[in-house]
Amino acid sequence: MKRLTYTGNDVEITYDVERCIHAAECANGLPGVFDPNRKPWVDPNGASADEVAAVIQRCPTGALKFRRTDSGSAEVPAENATIAVAEDGPLYVTGNLHIHMPDAEQPLVETRAAFCRCGASKAKPFCDGAHQEAKFRDGCRVDLARAVDAEYSDDTDVIDVTPLADGPLKVEGLIEIAGADNAETGRFAGAFLCRCGASSNKPFCDGSHREIAFEAAGS
Ligand code: FES
Repeated sequence: MKRLTYTGNDVEITYDVERCIHAAECANGLPGVFDPNRKPWVDPNGASADEVAAVIQRCPTGALKFRRTDSGSAEVPAENATIAVAEDGPLYVTGNLHIHMPDAEQPLVETRAAFCRCGASKAKPFCDGAHQEAKFRDGCRVDLARAVDAEYSDDTDVIDVTPLADGPLKVEGLIEIAGADNAETGRFAGAFLCRCGASSNKPFCDGSHREIAFEAAGS
């Protein structure tokens, strides 16, 4: 994992190169701080720490993070966990995420992440933008047959995300899953989400990973 750190007067910015798929929320939101045509491309003193924090929290992949070195607040995870299924693209997940990486003793604690669902990423379980070259196509209709009628608790519950070896992404906890146009949105008490690209019931796993002999590290 290649991570770069940019230290400013009031805020430290970290950039995980492999997890950036150029959503450009940063460059569009604060071009004085994030300028891909400048070296270094991040200037943490190019805006106030509050502005930097606000824009970084719009980074949908979690490639950008911040740590306040002034008295400002740390990022707070979204109270209600959600998965946005991107058309022809990844699963954008927000919430109090505990990501159980293969062979890691402690989970990665994150608030935002983009997970590969085409099977082509070299940074699995995360998306690295490979779906474009792989010409992954999915209109992301969400089958609501297993949706539940449940309310989020008042606390910000932990959502456990575990990539299973040669299989799907296991998500545990109440989470809302939305298709591309939000036309089909439902809450699910956990889910097994396809990450091989072959399921006929995307975004859910239907067991097709066995037929295509999908290989990926996991638990
Ligand atoms: S992971 Fe794709 S069908 Fe199971």
